[in-house]
Amino acid sequence: MKNIVVLVSGRGSNLQAIVRAARDEAWAARVAAVVSNRPDAGGLAYAREQGIAAEAVDHRAYPDRESFDAALARAIEGHAADVVVLAGFMRILTPEIVRRFDGRLVNIHPSLLPAFPGLHTHRRAIESGCKLAGATVHFVDAQVDHGPVIAQAAVPVLPEDDEASLAARVLAAEHVLYPRAIGWIVRGDLDLRDGRVVHRGGEPQWLMTPPSVGRGA
Ligand code: GRF
Repeated sequence: MKNIVVLVSGRGSNLQAIVRAARDEAWAARVAAVVSNRPDAGGLAYAREQGIAAEAVDHRAYPDRESFDAALARAIEGHAADVVVLAGFMRILTPEIVRRFDGRLVNIHPSLLPAFPGLHTHRRAIESGCKLAGATVHFVDAQVDHGPVIAQAAVPVLPEDDEASLAARVLAAEHVLYPRAIGWIVRGDLDLRDGRVVHRGGEPQWLMTPPSVGRGA
């Protein structure tokens, strides 16, 4: 049984989707622990309800990024992590910790990378007049919201969208995309060729949400 450690800073809806998929699809992996830099994160409360180890590593207790990341790495390794999943984890990681978990550290970002790394992705997509937005699951490298793309989900941007309606549509796609991508990782279905991630069995590494799904979101 492989161990997945999920890092969250907030409500943890992606965490919930992953826990559900691991159970419902009987993965040979389980979410062994949830770690948060915020003791009050909803994701930690959810983990406790589910009987999953929940640990806070409060970034405010550390003088710098290096010492925080060292404590974070100890927490992750304390749960013998095979895969480390960033799910709304709002701290920038140092290159040291990224290197330490290289090849088994993944993130989901709410844009079609390389467009819109960073914050306020939905607002920026709307303001740029984009007709498609979405989410990207990627292996993490030393740059923020960057690294080999595992899978992407595209959703339409509708003329009547505001930040909240677009965010809700993207989030619904994330809840399908992220568990799927992590399932591939725990099953060893992915190859990295020339810096590109390829699903060995040829499964589509993309997901499209039809416009009808967005109406009234
Ligand atoms: C998601 O939109 C994710 O893409 C971003 O942070 C948000 C986390 O939401 N990185 P949740 O905590 O999983 O509900």
